[in-house]
Amino acid sequence: MQTDVWSDVHEVPHVRLGQSADLVVVAPATADLLARAAIGRSDDLLTATLLTARCPVLYAPAMHTEMWEHPATQANIETLRGRGAVVLDPAVGRLTGADSGPGRLPEPAEIFAVARTLLDRGALPLDLAGRHVLVTAGGTREPLDPVRFLGNRSSGRQGYALARAAIARGAEVTVVAANVALPDPAGAKVIRVGTAGEMRDAVRAAAISADAVIMVAAVADFRPATASQTKIKKTGADPEPIALVRNPDILAELAHDRPRPGQVVVGFAAETDDVLANGRAKLAAKGADLLVVNEVGDGRGFGTTDNAATLLGADGSVVDVPMGSKDRLADAIWDAVVARLPR
Ligand code: CTP
Repeated sequence: MQTDVWSDVHEVPHVRLGQSADLVVVAPATADLLARAAIGRSDDLLTATLLTARCPVLYAPAMHTEMWEHPATQANIETLRGRGAVVLDPAVGRLTGADSGPGRLPEPAEIFAVARTLLDRGALPLDLAGRHVLVTAGGTREPLDPVRFLGNRSSGRQGYALARAAIARGAEVTVVAANVALPDPAGAKVIRVGTAGEMRDAVRAAAISADAVIMVAAVADFRPATASQTKIKKTGADPEPIALVRNPDILAELAHDRPRPGQVVVGFAAETDDVLANGRAKLAAKGADLLVVNEVGDGRGFGTTDNAATLLGADGSVVDVPMGSKDRLADAIWDAVVARLPR
């Protein structure tokens, strides 16, 4: 451990630490530290290390909301990002003292996950820097009554892995999360929704500024025609069959409307049989640029930690991603997206 520029002077720690680092993580990064790093100060061990480091640098800012939102801080962050650093947006929540808002340090385990991805990527460029990407995650729940719903088994893990991977590639990330019980990915803006209708509204609003949209969420194709305002009781007459009505297809709408020119739109499909033929037909029907086709069943897909998939491109391309972690699949998907983004 080193804390002082002036101890062990013969070893020049203020130079050696930065030169020999594979990754520098500053967590928490205060408004003051960000300002001093942006200017290029080197009057203590930390700023001297930042000035000599040639490896990836990750900042996890934490401060009061006013300081975070101040144009001076925002300009410093722009400067640092422009120089190739990854600066996480802080989480929103309770801050030191009575106030709450943007400025909270993300969960340490989530900062660690970004740090590990940066280490794995090494010298690879931040190829999503300056891009805004939107990822949906989880599964919608369509209410039958105040306590019951029609839902599905999606955990949100693949969507969150995509969000994390995009953060580590420099993107601004919005996640629309339906019923996900996982910690928020560090640096991402998470919008929580419940139903397909709520997801549609949130996606349409965020998609206006998105360079890429990945619809990972399992969206209910149908919802109960009516939801009871009170709990349905088992006493009394036998229940009527549940009538269902169709939900709008968010992915197809988005692929058709393209709210932002050049936007890359990606869908997911879970198939149990005839995977490629069904996938191709679905890709064409949705009008997306890419479809990530998962074969489900036999422990694959929903709720698992590993995943395999085939990426089908509207241009006819086929990329097989072998069984591996959801992080690995996430990176393969972003590779395919980056190749399709306008320069
Ligand atoms: N999707 C959507 N809106 C819906 C339903 C699905 O945006 N109302 C999106 C999902 O997020 C996913 C893709 O469409 O990206 C899945 O397509 P979908 O046709 O729902 O697949 P399946 O439900 O598997 O269709 P089918 O049951 O016909 O195989």
